[in-house]
Amino acid sequence: MPRVVLGVSAGVAAYKAVEVCRRLIDAGCFVSPVLTADATRFIGLATFDALGSEPSRIDLFDSPEPSPHTFLGQRADLVVVAPATANVIAKLAHGVADDLLTATCLATRAPLLVCPAMHTEMWEQQAVQANLAALRARGVHVLDPESGDLASGDHGMGRLPEPQRIVKTVLSILSENRPLLGRRVLVTAGGTREPIDSVRVITNRSSGKQGYAIAQAAAALGAAVTLVTTVDRAIPDGVADVVRVETAAQMQAAVMPIAAAQDVIVMAAAVADFRPVDPLDRKSKKQEGPPEIVLEPTHDFLVDLGALKPVGQILIGFAAETEALHDNALDKLRRKNLDFIVGNDVSQPDAGFEVDTNRVIILDTAGVVHELPLQTKLAVARELLVHIVTRLASLDRQIT
Ligand code: CTP
Repeated sequence: MPRVVLGVSAGVAAYKAVEVCRRLIDAGCFVSPVLTADATRFIGLATFDALGSEPSRIDLFDSPEPSPHTFLGQRADLVVVAPATANVIAKLAHGVADDLLTATCLATRAPLLVCPAMHTEMWEQQAVQANLAALRARGVHVLDPESGDLASGDHGMGRLPEPQRIVKTVLSILSENRPLLGRRVLVTAGGTREPIDSVRVITNRSSGKQGYAIAQAAAALGAAVTLVTTVDRAIPDGVADVVRVETAAQMQAAVMPIAAAQDVIVMAAAVADFRPVDPLDRKSKKQEGPPEIVLEPTHDFLVDLGALKPVGQILIGFAAETEALHDNALDKLRRKNLDFIVGNDVSQPDAGFEVDTNRVIILDTAGVVHELPLQTKLAVARELLVHIVTRLASLDRQIT
């Protein structure tokens, strides 16, 4: 999840920063609001406290961290100042760091985006333009203001661009190395556990490692990842939303309501095809003799996901096979209306369940087969994501 410091300085346009904050959060960013003291004359701290990813900060000295400017600056993937007043621009141009916002701008190596907003007379001042030229020359991104209505009934150059333009600019700077920024990716992982009685389950040998690796690789590319999992592994970096489930029915209940909102769904989980009918709600005793376990089919909700797939969404299934890998995988891809299927031959000792390596094939709807060599599950995940990113870009081109 990319971390953005949202700097707000003392201009009437500070109200637009509220929506910038909201939209950045919606796009999957972690937003740390930092206001100058005078910005609070225009907009309340409480608003940013409520909307930001963490409480807003204002003070260089009265902060939970001993050194909030370096804490924020080092952690940031981007710092955006919107609105940036002529005063803040001057400070940034001259390396002045007399409050938390300007000190944070100095204490970061992350890209800095400055969004000036002021009256036309101020905007046209040579001093302001020279300061902006100096910032641009140092690689600072400047989003020029627009012409339009200004405060106090004035009209002219100097109006802060609309929040969606600011957010688009932030995302495009961030997305230079993060092609999935602003995308939602849902990954399921692990084998489901279907109860026989209150202590015994039917499960399979899936470890969840491949699903976790996909979640990790997607988050590293900037995606907002939801991981629906049956296993208790360390949560991968950048994955904020984790839903724990046990059974196929619980996984279905977790996935279906949020499916339509996803750009990508990767069903890496090994979902049980059958479950015991009427599991006992107590432990059955040995003296009762060998239990007769009657099974009934679970619902294959990947079929539902394929049938309900919105335009532009990419749906990926897995096929764990012990024979006829290619034919079985292709059959599942077509039957379930998938965009890709990842097939692995789980009869091989170094691929599939439990181990850290995998050897898979990736099939697409055109029947093209990509045979990946034996490699770590993270490397497999990264290769799968290359296919996903390429497909998303081509779907975008078809839609627009
Ligand atoms: N899947 C699912 N719900 C189920 C069973 C499977 O969503 N009840 C998904 C899995 O997550 C996987 C894909 O379907 O992505 C393929 O699962 P698999 O069990 O291999 O496919 P089946 O169609 O059940 O074929 P078979 O068991 O005959 O190999």
